[in-house]
Amino acid sequence: FRRLHSHTGPDTQRPSFGISFDIDGVLIRGGKAIGGSPQALRRLYGDDGTLKIPYIFLTNGGGVPESKRASELSELLGVQISPLQVVQGHSPFRDLVSRFGNDLIVAVGKGEPAKVMLEYGFKNVLSIDEYASFFKGIDPLSRYKNWAFKQNNEIMKNMNELDFSYNVNSDAVKGTFIVSDPVDWGRDIQVLCDILSCGGLPGKEKGHQPALYFASDDLLYQAEFPAERLGMGAFRIALENIFNSVNGIPLQYTSYGKPNPSVFKNAESVLMQVASTLNGNPDHAGGRTEKENKFRTIYMIGDNPAVDIKGATKAGYPWFSILIRTGVFKGKDNHPEYPADMVVENVEEAVEYILKKEA
Ligand code: G3P
Ligand code: MG
Repeated sequence: FRRLHSHTGPDTQRPSFGISFDIDGVLIRGGKAIGGSPQALRRLYGDDGTLKIPYIFLTNGGGVPESKRASELSELLGVQISPLQVVQGHSPFRDLVSRFGNDLIVAVGKGEPAKVMLEYGFKNVLSIDEYASFFKGIDPLSRYKNWAFKQNNEIMKNMNELDFSYNVNSDAVKGTFIVSDPVDWGRDIQVLCDILSCGGLPGKEKGHQPALYFASDDLLYQAEFPAERLGMGAFRIALENIFNSVNGIPLQYTSYGKPNPSVFKNAESVLMQVASTLNGNPDHAGGRTEKENKFRTIYMIGDNPAVDIKGATKAGYPWFSILIRTGVFKGKDNHPEYPADMVVENVEEAVEYILKKEA
């Protein structure tokens, strides 16, 4: 691969390009590797297994801490992945810690949403499962859900071990975070409407809406099933419409994730950090000007035109978008509304294209 400043010593060399991989519909579908993803990633490492080309995962998904995701991905894809290389939809929630101090917050979604938030440094976090368990009858349909009994017993057991000194009937929830795809939409919409309509105190009088954050806003994403599945953006539409109809005032919220330009800006600096560890020397970026540290090209490999490609296009230089056909996009030609810089079949072809171009 091409090097920046090949006249300088080996310590200051680094590839002039980096790669961002979307996960769902690009590397994985329904828990299985797709499109030759293990082989594609292996090409980014040397024979001795050390990373040669800086790359990151840039996903709108999530639900587990970055460290856990890194080991899950390492296992599935057969390469050594560091937590630094994993940027999830909820990763920017980390920057909101100081805003909430000791406030009570509620985390929603599949996986371990409360654990994610605790690892980011939030002090008082309950998952929506835990929070709902405090309110008898908050979900009138729970007795029809045969999983709910077992789940509730587990929660009660965990709650006893939890160092939790809040009274949910008088201590208001100050923030609600949709960390990953919600599991029980009906219950979650009900409980979120309760929290958000009543100043963070379900069952009490109407009050000021607590803060609401979504990790991403994907309407659809590609999982195991042949047709796309409803994503967090679909859940947001449902919650927003219901909240607005019930309260007659618009729901206030902030959505993160691709295609927001800030995600691509952050990805660029994370890639820079990954690049700086390439020669086994985390400090070797020292003494270089910002211009010298810049990538000439960053490739975004994605399956969702409205998310991955739109985002990379909006981010502009040095981003170069590659659209593949193993996920949301299945078209023959380029996408008409959000055309990519390049369209190929799968991730293996995408990496082949990049390595050829950069050779
Ligand atoms: O739930 C995950 C989905 O919304 C998107 O994941 O990896 O395609 O950005 P990804
Ligand atoms: Mg995807």
